Amino acid sequence: MTEQQRVHPVRGDFAANAWADKETYQSMYQQSVDDPETFWGEQAKRLEWTKTPTKIKHTVFDTHNVDIRWFEDGELNACANCLDRHLDKRGDQPAIIWEGDDPDQSKTLTYRQLHEQTCQLANTFKALGVGKGDVVTLYMPMIPEAAMAMLACARIGAIHSVVFGGFSPDALAQRIVDAESKLVITADESVRGGKQVPLKDNVDAALTRKGTDVVANVLVVKRTGGEIEWHDGRDLWYHEQVDQQSADCPAEPMNAEDPLFILYTSGSTGAPKGLKHTTGGYLLHAAMTHQYVFDYQDGEVYWCSADVGWVTGHSYIVYGPLANGATTLMFEGVPSYPSHGRLGEIIDKHNVAILYTSPTAIRALMAHGDDVMDSSRRDSLRVLGSVGEPINPEAWEWFYRVIGNSTCPIVDTWWQTETGGIMITPLPGATDLKPGSATLPFFGVQPALVSNEGKILEGATDGNLVILDSWPGQARSIWKNHERFVQTYFSAYPGMYFTGDGCRRDEDGYYWITGRVDDVINVSGHRMGTAEIESSLVAHEAVAEAAVVGYPHDVKGQGIYIYVTLKDDYEPSEELRKELVQWVRKDIGPIASPDVIQWSPSLPKTRSGKIMRRILRKIAANETEGLGDTSTLADPSVVDDLIENRANR
Ligand code: WT7
Repeated sequence: MTEQQRVHPVRGDFAANAWADKETYQSMYQQSVDDPETFWGEQAKRLEWTKTPTKIKHTVFDTHNVDIRWFEDGELNACANCLDRHLDKRGDQPAIIWEGDDPDQSKTLTYRQLHEQTCQLANTFKALGVGKGDVVTLYMPMIPEAAMAMLACARIGAIHSVVFGGFSPDALAQRIVDAESKLVITADESVRGGKQVPLKDNVDAALTRKGTDVVANVLVVKRTGGEIEWHDGRDLWYHEQVDQQSADCPAEPMNAEDPLFILYTSGSTGAPKGLKHTTGGYLLHAAMTHQYVFDYQDGEVYWCSADVGWVTGHSYIVYGPLANGATTLMFEGVPSYPSHGRLGEIIDKHNVAILYTSPTAIRALMAHGDDVMDSSRRDSLRVLGSVGEPINPEAWEWFYRVIGNSTCPIVDTWWQTETGGIMITPLPGATDLKPGSATLPFFGVQPALVSNEGKILEGATDGNLVILDSWPGQARSIWKNHERFVQTYFSAYPGMYFTGDGCRRDEDGYYWITGRVDDVINVSGHRMGTAEIESSLVAHEAVAEAAVVGYPHDVKGQGIYIYVTLKDDYEPSEELRKELVQWVRKDIGPIASPDVIQWSPSLPKTRSGKIMRRILRKIAANETEGLGDTSTLADPSVVDDLIENRANR
């Protein structure tokens, strides 16, 4: 059978009890695109506003004037929406279930407890001089304090910038400087897979870098009690500060378009960009997708296994679930520790109904065979979700059969840091599933496929994925650089938002994301710019030139393949190879660890000197049969040499 013939139809009993069945999806979708004002005006009522918006949508995708505003005269507070408004009805319901790296450690925070501790932290921020519009950087383990810190920022109108704990001191410093962050929150160490990561040491190192003297204080959570250095006057223990504070902290009314957070992500060129997300539209999109896409039902335990350092953690561990009064599980560790059965054991231990995870995690488990799940029953599961990269049909079927006991619909959700929330996805009670397809657009989302010349393509076809009109969760700008925002997303195809992804649409109108068409690679669901890795490499004394491409990798989706041209005085060696791998890991972080290095005396270039990455990608993928047009190469023999000396056969 071909991929497209394998369909998993919606189960009737599921549809009968779901938030949306086929008819509901179709009629709501139709209204959302025909009359967005009415649709979103109505949907906005799911949030609690201190001032109800009367202006719903003001969005312009004109290259000369990209201007995106939703609910612009409304006022609300995201933290109050996630906590305060649930206190009456569900004060004693678990808000966060925390599962430690060590299976013997877990704890539960009720909505009341989370509210109280978040208020104390918000008062701590105020006492440290942090207020509305200030940026707070989080560099934290997966512990409840990370969620509290995000919510405490939201409470007082400060803007959080979460930096994933796997990034290096330099990467952290770069983000602190760009955001002009006054306060950094971290922990002494994080623990993952039984190993300690020295977060505080990394912060110390970051804060020796140029421009980081904007940071006045570092608030340190004591997670392990491991040894750390202390900078008097700058460093403060989190618990000592918070314990002194009152739990009474009124939530600051914010304009719907006030920034809620910035989050850095990689693009095809230049330094990572800080995407700016605002309050009203973002929260509405996160909450609404969390309810409909996962069919979240009151009282269920919901688990998104991402890290809060990525947008998935923002929208689907913290804001979406908490805005809906859900119980959200937060896991500190990794699926392979202490054994490969951990995921299933956590599901049984906490009665998880919904699991949202990544294709990489699934493929890593699948590689160990079906019996990796033998230590658990997983019969509490009702819905499964996948995100971050295309899921191959084989991994989809394994997820369905082995983890979900062939009973749970899988929602393959396509979206991006820039989109704020899920964009193309099945709804489990409404959409027949095709393994490998993210299926159909969510409410208010108008995808289209365009040719390289920008012509909108109809029917079953391949093309570049664009979105034709704004949706509430869309990023509004790049921090301090609106010009770059316009250039990056609205200049390739004027009047449309360009996603950077390639995509196929089949005869049923289903979307199949085929991967990035720009110089962004996706390694284990982590997004990286090849240019960033290249600039790290050329900073090494031995490297004259480097070109980085992704290549297909069984577990990671894509691996990092590097072509390196050495300076005249240097010779290739195993030692130098190891050194370069360490160099990139140290410079960017372990997530950017190179998989393959090929010594390349020269790189294929056009006569104008541009590296022909298309060819390098093919060689790395071992697709050397159809190299396409090489006539524009300055020196075609370079290619033969590279094929001859391929590094990963
Ligand atoms: C890129 C965005 C969305 C949160 C996590 C990643 C790829 C994401 C899917 C999917 C195929 C996917 C795209 C996208 N991607 N989800 N379900 N199927 N590809 O966010 O780091 O901003 O990366 O991830 O290429 O552009 P991100």
